[in-house]
Amino acid sequence: MEQSAIAPIGRIVSGIQPSGRLHLGNYMGALKNWIDLQDRHECFFFIADWHALSTNYEKTGALRDNVRELLLDFLSAGLDPEKCVLFQQSHVVAHAELYLLLGMMTPVAWLLRNPTYKDQMAQIENRDLAQYGFLGYPVLQTADIVLYRPTHVPVGQDQIPHLELAREIVRRFHSLYGEVFPEPLPLLTESPKLPGLDGRKMSKSYDNAVFLSDSKETVAEKFKTMKTDTQRMRRSDPGRPEECPVFSLHQIFTPRETVGSIDRDCRVAAIGCIDCKKILAEEVERILSPSRERRREIEGQGTGRLREILDLGAEKAKREASLTMERVREAMKI
Ligand code: TRP
Ligand code: SF4
Repeated sequence: MEQSAIAPIGRIVSGIQPSGRLHLGNYMGALKNWIDLQDRHECFFFIADWHALSTNYEKTGALRDNVRELLLDFLSAGLDPEKCVLFQQSHVVAHAELYLLLGMMTPVAWLLRNPTYKDQMAQIENRDLAQYGFLGYPVLQTADIVLYRPTHVPVGQDQIPHLELAREIVRRFHSLYGEVFPEPLPLLTESPKLPGLDGRKMSKSYDNAVFLSDSKETVAEKFKTMKTDTQRMRRSDPGRPEECPVFSLHQIFTPRETVGSIDRDCRVAAIGCIDCKKILAEEVERILSPSRERRREIEGQGTGRLREILDLGAEKAKREASLTMERVREAMKI
């Protein structure tokens, strides 16, 4: 993979599947990065609702709520529809047209060897994923990306194979019909590994997450139950920060000097876990409390406001998408 740092960043495109509320791990990974990027670059960010069907086509009952939740999380965390183009994938039908055209030239063998596909097929037992759409997921993702002709795509490590595939599809398109798209480069998002309340990786499915939309009280309650160094039974026992998930969160959310003093104090039992967790809750609140404030503001603007934001985003996205599709149809003689 080429080094993305070398090429100057032009336009950025990225998406997230709507699958429920975002937690602190999601925030520290993708979302915080998007919020930084929107100030410096031309960004297209979208809710990948069609992608959510690739694994959840049987149960779509929660889809609309999930889209709404995700949009609210986006806006309350600080994504600003005035700074970036914020939209919902299914509102821009050109994603589907380009998906179809790219699907015509994508060898099935490329999709079968996609590591995400192989992993999920091996891991997921309770759902039938032998669907055409699940195999074709990276083709849809390629369409999502190149439709806006971006230079860079901010993604986590897990999406790198999809990006590589997108680049291969683009190269194949170019060799068949001529140059239309820049080859999109990944902009690798460094996402710190956040432990959840039970010490395992923070994940919605483990029921161990702190959500962006949790109330202050809920956050404090959750931290109270969080696992610490299991060998520190009594307040008078010295602790081992390196064995403590609370400490791992401090390293992410708490200023370095404070982390240093917690480290020292824990080892000699000069600080207790209850106080240590209170400090953590306060630090996390420095992110969550402005976010809650913005959420209240947006919710106060009434139900039509979210629709308005998505409509505006769709309009801008469609304009750019239709320019691309004209070039694509021209190149393919359609
Ligand atoms: N596949 C991505 C994920 O699961 C979501 C996604 C869909 C995406 N289309 C995209 C990300 C286009 C970047 C660009 O996280
Ligand atoms: Fe963990 Fe803090 Fe307790 Fe030490 S004092 S064990 S770092 S929670």
